[in-house]
Amino acid sequence: MTEPKERMRLDEVGDWSELKLEILKKYAGAYTKILRGNKLHPIYIDGFAGAGEHISKRTQKSIAGSPRNALEIEPPFEEFHFVDLNPKRATNLQKLAGDKDNVYVYSGDSNALLISKIFPRIRYKEYKRALCLLDPYGLHLSWEVLKAAAESKTIEIFLNFPVMDMNMNVLWRRPENVTKENVARMNFSWGDDSWKNAAYKKQETLFGPEDEKQPNETIAAAFRERLKQVAGFKYVPEPAPMRNSTSAVVYYLFFAAQQPTAANIVTDILNNYRKLGKLHG
Ligand SMILES: C[S@@+](CC[C@H](N)C(=O)[O-])C[C@H]1O[C@@H](n2cnc3c(N)ncnc32)[C@H](O)[C@@H]1O
Repeated sequence: MTEPKERMRLDEVGDWSELKLEILKKYAGAYTKILRGNKLHPIYIDGFAGAGEHISKRTQKSIAGSPRNALEIEPPFEEFHFVDLNPKRATNLQKLAGDKDNVYVYSGDSNALLISKIFPRIRYKEYKRALCLLDPYGLHLSWEVLKAAAESKTIEIFLNFPVMDMNMNVLWRRPENVTKENVARMNFSWGDDSWKNAAYKKQETLFGPEDEKQPNETIAAAFRERLKQVAGFKYVPEPAPMRNSTSAVVYYLFFAAQQPTAANIVTDILNNYRKLGKLHG
């Protein structure tokens, strides 16, 4: 864990990532305040934590990533769990934590670590509650993690639902041409192959019935229902489409929780950005 920092490549992030970080910061501040006000113990979990810092595409300057922001939230979280698969990034996260003994850094696969090591610590009876960010680049998050978070009743999540990866690699007009590996990645993140029913509708054509690919919103709406009906989150506000510079949706930012207040706060934050024209469609 002693690689020099220059050897670690930082991600260059677009405006949509900066907007995500802003939204998360706003919610996290409200979250810790409410929990502490109710004598509960707020814990922060970052399953795909990154290096803790990025380079802004717009300014070319260094900006804080989600773990660094979490460390600076006031009132503070009581405990932090940062996971990244990349060992150099985990080393950087450890540096960021300094000698704080309430920060736990893991270098490994969060699909295993969250379920086996981290989520079991968030015990309801000990008045512990967690805000968990699940922000993979693409279809790298297992549905099992979402199910475990919902079942815990103590963990709420922000989730990156990566439609760009899906559209580029899985949800093709001709589904028969998609590779087995990509179908498996989609099943892994969706939880089964029922995404096929959401993503395609049979359409009569001159050549007989054909599968017609459905728009992003339809697929996101089906996943929203799944988070409620299958995973068991009580409240899942309408997700926010995060768009790149050409206005294409890179991913939907979902929030899912068991408490109506949590969902109302997130809806208010997102609606304010919608009014400002920063989130549309
Ligand atoms: C989009 S970046 C995270 C950005 C960060 N949430 C932020 O906003 O500052 C995704 C990170 O997930 C890590 N990653 C990819 N697969 C992973 C896995 N299975 N378990 C843990 N981390 C993983 C990558 O190394 C990368 O640093």
